[in-house]
Amino acid sequence: MIEKNFVFEPKHTVNLTDGSICWQSPSNIALVKYWGKTEPQIPKNSSISFTLTNCHTTTTLHYSPKKIPSRSFDFKVFFEGEEKNSFRPKIESFFNRILDYVPFITDFSFRIETENSFPHSSGIASSASGMSALALCLMSLQKRMDPHLSEADLLQKASFLARLGSGSAARSLEGPLVVWGQHPDVIGSSDLFGIRYPGEIHEVFGTFHDTILLVDKGVKQVSSTVGHNLMVDHPFAEARFDQAQNNMSRLMPILKTGDLDGFIDIVEKEALSLHAMMMTSDPYFILMKPNTLEIIERIWAFRKSSKCHICFTLDAGANVHVLFPHKDKELVDEFIRTELASFCENNQFISDHAGSGAKSASS
Ligand code: DP6
Repeated sequence: MIEKNFVFEPKHTVNLTDGSICWQSPSNIALVKYWGKTEPQIPKNSSISFTLTNCHTTTTLHYSPKKIPSRSFDFKVFFEGEEKNSFRPKIESFFNRILDYVPFITDFSFRIETENSFPHSSGIASSASGMSALALCLMSLQKRMDPHLSEADLLQKASFLARLGSGSAARSLEGPLVVWGQHPDVIGSSDLFGIRYPGEIHEVFGTFHDTILLVDKGVKQVSSTVGHNLMVDHPFAEARFDQAQNNMSRLMPILKTGDLDGFIDIVEKEALSLHAMMMTSDPYFILMKPNTLEIIERIWAFRKSSKCHICFTLDAGANVHVLFPHKDKELVDEFIRTELASFCENNQFISDHAGSGAKSASS
């Protein structure tokens, strides 16, 4: 599949009147991390993530054909009921990036209404869920114009568009595990879009839990985009990209057999390697907070004493994602409540688990 396959070239198009489309799309948490990219949003290594369930964005796209044609974008954006002009630049640059593939977006006036299931300032990035929900709405609009588009093609192109908005958003459409980025061992994998992990998945990973400990709910000092750019000329970049590709190869048999010790080893190594890249870039930065480390040490001590298969991962922030299989839920829930919650801002955490991906919510 190459980029030009995604250009909208319908044989016959249906003329649309006013309407609306709604999608609910989840967040995801990477096991093998994407950190480093080239234009246009091409990852330097493959990544794989659990699709989440409870942390999601719901986006409604109201559309009406423009009365006077123009080549400019015409949209208003509302977040949780209030017009949000601060979201406009991000959407405008997303529209510019995807225009070649969905040229019809300049034929409509849009009202984009969006809301998150997770608290606004939680430190949880909403770009994956938000960009994937918007991409899906645009693809449903394409399908209304060209009803021959298959569901599989709709999802694939939505992932392709979502990637152009935010790389990790390419992994939020399906579940429970999605790979984005070409890898020789993952059949069908591509730098252009995410695919549902095609290998065998042991049942233990179908019901995995992720409790997100909200250590720092503030806005990050360094955005992901800036962080990715610091991988250019990073002294350890090539070794890191090789490590990620190797970790993907190592993870595949583990996902098949349900080897939880092997899983823990790779997932924690990936989280710490990601943060090691941040700490060794120029300029260097640290996104972990003292409580992030306190939590990690307590997870290690609890794992040793309880024999639960609990581990942690981190995204580009201070929050800790606590991953564990369903069999350990009771013990780990109790451990989080009694020992870890006090290291979170206002004792806050969010219980989530692996899920099946985005859902259409159009009536
Ligand atoms: C650390 O997808 O947020 O969460 O493509 O610039 O929007 P952009 O970056 P983004 O980066 C995510 C980085 C990460 C790792 C991951 O999710 O794989």
